[in-house]
Amino acid sequence: MTKGALALLIHGGTDNWSPQRWKRRFDDVCAGRRVFLLPDPEIDPAEIHYAAVWKPVQGALAAFANLRVIFNLGAGVDALMADASLPDLPLVRVAVDDLTGRMTEYVVLHVLAHHRQEIYLRASQREKRWAPKQQWPASAISVGIMGLGKLGTDAARALNGLGFRVSGWSRAAKNVTGVACFHGKDQLEPFLRQTHILVCLLPLTAETRHVLDKSLLSRLDRTSPLGAPVLINAGRGGLQNEAELLACLNDGTLGAATLDVFETEPLPPDSPFWTHPNVIVTPHNAADTDPDAISRYVADQIERFEAGLALQNAVDRGRGY
Ligand code: NAP
Ligand code: GLV
Repeated sequence: MTKGALALLIHGGTDNWSPQRWKRRFDDVCAGRRVFLLPDPEIDPAEIHYAAVWKPVQGALAAFANLRVIFNLGAGVDALMADASLPDLPLVRVAVDDLTGRMTEYVVLHVLAHHRQEIYLRASQREKRWAPKQQWPASAISVGIMGLGKLGTDAARALNGLGFRVSGWSRAAKNVTGVACFHGKDQLEPFLRQTHILVCLLPLTAETRHVLDKSLLSRLDRTSPLGAPVLINAGRGGLQNEAELLACLNDGTLGAATLDVFETEPLPPDSPFWTHPNVIVTPHNAADTDPDAISRYVADQIERFEAGLALQNAVDRGRGY
C-alpha cells in the first residue's frame, strides 16, 4: 500500500532552517514515503497526508484536502496559532531531548554569566583593569523559571545541581524535586518576590503576551548580591514589552538581561538592545531545532499514528501551546 506523502513547508532564513538540508534528512528517515519540499510543481495536493512546517505562509496548509497531521518543526507554535485558516487537525510540536539539552546549556550559560559577573569582567578586560570584585556562592542566588514545562523543568534541575536556589512557575501545579513550585496567577506574586534571576521559558499565547512588563519586573527581589534583578528571556519576543523592558534596564529596576528573542527578528540595527552595556543579545539560537533529531522524531510520530497509537506532544488549541 502506498504511504501517505509528507509535505515540507519551511521558511526560516537561517542555516539550520535550510529547506534542502531538511529534505535530505526526511528522505533518509521516511523510507518508502514520498517527501515533497514546497513549492513543487509536481505535487498532487491530494497525496499529502502529513505536513512538517516552520513558519509556513498563512493559508498554505488549507490546500491539502487529505491532510491528517501537522508537525511543527519547533517547540513554540505561536506562529501557526496566528494563522486563522490553520486546518482543524492534530498539531504536534517538538519536545525532544536534543532540543531540551541545548536550551539547558543556554540557560545555565547565561545564569552563570550573570552570577559570575561576566559583563563586568569583560568590560574590565577591554580596559586592561585588574579589579576583581567579591564573588558570592551559587546558593546566594535564587533563579525563578517562568514556564516549568519540558524546557523549564530540565533547566531547573541542572541549575539545582549547580547549587542555585531554584523555583518555577506554571499554569498547573507541579512537583519537581529540589524546585520550589508555584502556579497560577495567585502564586505569581510570591514567585516573583523571591526571584533574583528570572528565566522566561513560557510559550507565547494570548495570556502570556507582554507578561514581562514593568509591573512584573519591579516585583523581583532586589536584595541579592547581584545588586539588582536579572532577566533571561529565551521564550519568545512577544512575551516582553520592549519599551518597558528598556526603561527598566535604564532606571535600574533591572541590573542586566540576556535576550535571545525579540518582537521583531532579526533585531533591527537601530534597536537600543544591541549596544546596551548591560544586555547580552543572542540571535534566537538558544536551542536550535536540529534536522537530524527532529526528522527522526517526526518519522516516529507518523509511524505511531499509522499504527493507531496516540500522537505525542499534541498542542492544545484552546490553551494555545
Ligand atoms: P511546554 O512544555 O509546553 O511548557 C510551557 C510551560 O509554560 C508549562 O509549564 C506551562 O504550564 C507554562 N505556561 C503556559 N502558559 C502559562 C500561563 N498562562 N501561566 C503560567 N504558566 C504557563 O513548552 P516547552 O517545550 O518547555 O517550550 C517553551 C517555549 O520555549 C516554547 O513555546 C518556545 O516559545 C520557546 N523556545 C524557544 C527556543 C529558542 O531557541 N529561543 C527554542 C525552543 C523553544 P503547564 O505546565 O501548567 O501547562
Ligand atoms: C524555537 O524557537 C522553537 O520554538 O523551537
